[in-house]
Amino acid sequence: MNTGPIFAASSFEALEYDALGCRRCSLAETRKQVVFGSGDRHADLVFVGEGPGAEEDKTGVPFVGRAGQLLTTLIEGIGLSREEVYIANVVKCRPPGNRDPLAIEIETCWPFLDGQLGFIDPVVIVTLGNFATKLLLDTKVGITKLRGSEYPGAEGVIIIPTLHPSAVLRTGGAHLANVRSDFVLMKRALERARLARGAS
Ligand code: URA
Repeated sequence: MNTGPIFAASSFEALEYDALGCRRCSLAETRKQVVFGSGDRHADLVFVGEGPGAEEDKTGVPFVGRAGQLLTTLIEGIGLSREEVYIANVVKCRPPGNRDPLAIEIETCWPFLDGQLGFIDPVVIVTLGNFATKLLLDTKVGITKLRGSEYPGAEGVIIIPTLHPSAVLRTGGAHLANVRSDFVLMKRALERARLARGAS
């Protein structure tokens, strides 16, 4: 197992192989499985969540619990399937008891997410909740202030922050309406980016 610095992976597969054996932070001691990510490695649209929960830790697949079911429904609501997008997390191992990931864990795991985004090279990244949003927009501003708009990221990518599906499950109502409107925003951003690509 690799406990050294993350090498500059030569391929997506090499990056995944490195992640699956990672013991760089203490989450390795309590996880059942590394949850690297799932979906299309050439997707235009990538979702980034916080970290695996109990179901994900058991199955090795991101967003398969209750929050995952809501995310799947929302993705299907804009005419896509989970197989057509890519789904990843800020940290690849479950924080015990579903506690928030620590800053050191996020920092240690960042090269894996950075590598995934580099290889996939999406046109739209959707950040689900505060942890992914703060990391990818490099901000301390909270998700409720940021959602509802799109933001430019590196190399022309569009970043769209929205509420985490777990927060929607906890609070429902208005939050679900907000998330639905963010999904419409991402659908339009995708269509725009695809048209621009076709025109160039
Ligand atoms: N919540 C997350 O942020 N990620 C998952 O994979 C599951 C639940």
